[in-house]
Amino acid sequence: MRKSSRLILALDETDREKALDIADAVSGTVDAIKINWPLVLSAGPEMITELSRRSDVICDFKVADIPNTVHLIVDGALGRGASAVIVHSFTGSDSMKEAVDTAAGRGNIYAVTEMSHPGGKEFTAPNAEALALVGVRCGVKGFIAPATRPDRIAAIRKVIGDREILSPGVGAQGGSASAAISAGADYVIVGRAIYKSDDPSKVAGDIADEIRTVL
Ligand code: XMP
Repeated sequence: MRKSSRLILALDETDREKALDIADAVSGTVDAIKINWPLVLSAGPEMITELSRRSDVICDFKVADIPNTVHLIVDGALGRGASAVIVHSFTGSDSMKEAVDTAAGRGNIYAVTEMSHPGGKEFTAPNAEALALVGVRCGVKGFIAPATRPDRIAAIRKVIGDREILSPGVGAQGGSASAAISAGADYVIVGRAIYKSDDPSKVAGDIADEIRTVL
């Protein structure tokens, strides 16, 4: 994934044509497009391939399963053209290692540490450093840490060294792109603030400009 604007679009728009229009409008600005179950369930897994012609695609499938199932999901996503897959750490080292081994030479694995919504403080936040260490030991490319709590981005950074941090929670969830990058995130992930706006290209450009002010 290129590291230019440091902005990743979370494309949770469920209308296929609208999703492709938005992808076309912002693919020159964003460094990657992250897709999640809503778009895959509404438009089909072919969207992974379709979008991969426009941008790097991160499949945010939050995989949390036994190693064999993890293998099948990661293999399927990368086989359709994804560049990376997001998995949960709490399933433990064997599942995480299986994800990393399946992706080796084909793509990257990002691990969830602490989730960005308020409920993320209940179980994930108290265990985030330990969850991050599982990912470090298994060799993931990076981690997902919350833009809604920049202090927690800084805390995760201390545990993971120079591995990447992708940070969701900017815009609709209240986080700030510049604060997340200043706290140590490499990229921010932005969904509704871009894809629900009247002018996704302009909003993406504005967020990229904001990020540039703190680089
Ligand atoms: P919005 O519309 O809130 O979209 O900008 C955010 C996108 O990111 C996902 N998300 C997360 N993914 N860990 C993750 O792995 C998180 O803590 C997290 N918080 C939000 C969300 O599903 C949506 O696609």
